[in-house]
Amino acid sequence: MKLVSELLTEGIRAAAVQAGLVEPDAVAEPFVPTADPRHGDYQCNWAFRLAKIARKAPREVAAILVERLGDNPMIARVELAGPGFVNVFLSDPWLGENLRARSVAADLGVPQVGAGRTMVIDYSSPNIAKRMHVGHLRSTIIGDAITRMYRVLGWKVIADNHIGDWGTQFGKLIVAWERWRDDAAYAEDPVAELQRLYQAFGEAAQEQPDLIERARAETVKLQEGESKSRALWQEFCRVSLEEFDRVYERLGVSFDVVLGESYYRDRLQRLVDDLLERGIAVHDQGAVIVPFDASDGKGLSKNPLLIRKSDGAALYGTTDLATVLHRVETWAPERVLYETDVRQALHFRQVFAASRKLGVEVEFVHIGHGMLKLDGGVASTRAGTVLNLVDVLDTAVAHARTVVDQASAHLSESERAEIAEAVGVGAVKITDLSQNPSTDIHFDWERMLAIEGDTAPYLLYANARCHSIFRKAGLDIETFVPGLPDLTHDTARAVALLVVRTPEVVIAATEAAKPNVLATHVFALARAFASFYSACRVLDEDLSAEVRLGRLSLVYAVARSLSLCLDLLGLVPLRRM
Ligand code: ARG
Repeated sequence: MKLVSELLTEGIRAAAVQAGLVEPDAVAEPFVPTADPRHGDYQCNWAFRLAKIARKAPREVAAILVERLGDNPMIARVELAGPGFVNVFLSDPWLGENLRARSVAADLGVPQVGAGRTMVIDYSSPNIAKRMHVGHLRSTIIGDAITRMYRVLGWKVIADNHIGDWGTQFGKLIVAWERWRDDAAYAEDPVAELQRLYQAFGEAAQEQPDLIERARAETVKLQEGESKSRALWQEFCRVSLEEFDRVYERLGVSFDVVLGESYYRDRLQRLVDDLLERGIAVHDQGAVIVPFDASDGKGLSKNPLLIRKSDGAALYGTTDLATVLHRVETWAPERVLYETDVRQALHFRQVFAASRKLGVEVEFVHIGHGMLKLDGGVASTRAGTVLNLVDVLDTAVAHARTVVDQASAHLSESERAEIAEAVGVGAVKITDLSQNPSTDIHFDWERMLAIEGDTAPYLLYANARCHSIFRKAGLDIETFVPGLPDLTHDTARAVALLVVRTPEVVIAATEAAKPNVLATHVFALARAFASFYSACRVLDEDLSAEVRLGRLSLVYAVARSLSLCLDLLGLVPLRRM
């Protein structure tokens, strides 16, 4: 279905064409939702640009547009405001019908703007033999939400987990493994033990520099495919991936491909040679770099990309270049997105600029997330200083359980456990997703799990409430046939506007790669629904059948919109709480 903003924009373009202001193929400035309902539902400021072309005053142009927009069935009232804004109040019958049609359409009739288009997204991407840390948690949550949003818009998405599974750290780890491993500790918590061994190597190497030499020799053996080293490396990968998978399962996240850095290891030498041959890379004090100039991007001329160290080793960026080429060859994507710590922003700008030199024409996007701080600690069942993400999730769920036990005391033990899982994990996700990715976030369990406020329990309760209304009415929401919603009350109209805007918000959030844009919307919808529900009875005996159906139809549309948004944000839209 076409977006409301799109239909209005088509209307104003037709008006401008009729008035002889522009050619029929002109691109109009789009209508956008107004911030203040007193100024209408949607606003357009195209008149300012048109006025320049027509050499007229913006108000004069806006007046022409307002007059011609008047007989559009979508519009109840159109006003000229300020120096030349065109403000539109949608007609209630039209809004009601659009809402009804959306509520029965798949995914609220969100346009398939991505049909036939492909994108690759690189997120999560933790490192073997190390715990996934909170940075990877953010990448996983944000990357997954972006993946879901792209998919609902019809894009073909390749979610690729670019695991850090190759490099000189494995030589060190093998040396440490052979000298200091504690088999019992490894059996208990393999990744913690590997991480301890890696740290132990670092400390020991300060006193015994010959260890570095040994590690280097081990790395060479591994790179040459020596069977014992390879088997160890595979073992480290296996235990690490098992642990990562436990986190992914808990989060409801999955990938299409898991191609770690090791997948590209045999291409690196050739790639560097090729770059040298083509003059894209140059020798520099024994190393090989890709130099940039001002035309490659701001500040890059001082930051060449190092692709081969003086000892001949390839680097993180070399692998990233090989990865770009592989993705382009394999999937021919239009866009390639990366979600990592914001501190990798320069690295990606370098990789993107070097890829351009190689002739890669895809649209690159790097989404950088800020820090995550945990207030109030995490209950750990294991010893050790490294934070386990499963512990973070367990702590969230334990806190959620206290809330759920109070709020949902009427439900059975197993139901409450299931709800607490969705609420706890949902709270971790929504806390992350309700901020612009680049901002730092804090986990404050109490605030995250409050029943009121922009929290997971609030959102999930709003959705569950819609379903409980249907249960109380004795209606099956699956087979319910909505009629025209009753929009007579202001609160109902406000809800309807937010529901019909949902597809617009999904598109905007996806284009900006900001799930927080969608989170803000779904909170607004949940709040608007709460106001409606406290102002208007839905199931009262004395309501006429028509009003009752009209209100139930609105609740139905809210349920559809909430569950779509919750699903896109990776939350489980519970039906009972
Ligand atoms: N493994 C890296 C880290 O933990 C993230 C990798 C991101 N993806 C990439 N293609 N470089 O920081």
